[in-house]
Amino acid sequence: MNSTLQSTVEIRPMQTSDLDRIIRIEREIFLFPWSVANFADSIKAGYVCQVLQQTNILMGYGIMMMSPEEAHVLTLGIAANWQSRGFGKKLLQYLIDYAKSAHAKSVFLDVRESNDGAAQLYKKMGFRHIATRKGYYPAMCGREDALVMQLML
Ligand SMILES: CC(C)(COP(=O)(O)OP(=O)(O)OC[C@H]1O[C@@H](n2cnc3c(N)ncnc32)[C@H](O)[C@@H]1OP(=O)(O)O)[C@@H](O)C(=O)NCCC(=O)NCCS
Repeated sequence: MNSTLQSTVEIRPMQTSDLDRIIRIEREIFLFPWSVANFADSIKAGYVCQVLQQTNILMGYGIMMMSPEEAHVLTLGIAANWQSRGFGKKLLQYLIDYAKSAHAKSVFLDVRESNDGAAQLYKKMGFRHIATRKGYYPAMCGREDALVMQLML
């Protein structure tokens, strides 16, 4: 990411007024997208819901659920035309730092077995594959396994 772009990017709390833009990105990047209600419920539940934006362009979002010793990243998405520029890494690092500052001992997430791009990012950030949930996700042909990944903090 070039330094000008880097310096103008901000990560801030998600608001319900962001949901129209988020859902457009969500439908573009996920075959089985979350609904508006899924995002609204996450905000209402007090999960760590953040968006990444540059000036007025919302480029991505991430949601993490905190429990006393663990954090769970529930979703992470970067708009298709902003991918592969380091923004996913930046947003994930933000969530990891948040979990650390809240004294979580580890961060967990699930990723589709076929999602090599996301799995590469998680491995680069230090996550390790610790378990597999058989048939966890809906898929075009039946079901797909989830890889459970953990980062020790
Ligand atoms: C997965 C996702 C969040 C990554 O965000 P991104 O901004 O595109 O990724 P970054 O540019 O920050 O990549 C960081 C690192 O991850 C790895 N990576 C990211 N996408 C990759 C891909 N498609 N293939 C291989 N490696 C990839 C790279 O190694 C990269 O490291 P590098 O900068 O040293 O090359 C984004 O591509 C996305 O929203 N994808 C669709 C939705 C999705 O799959 N979300 C995750 C659900 S679990």
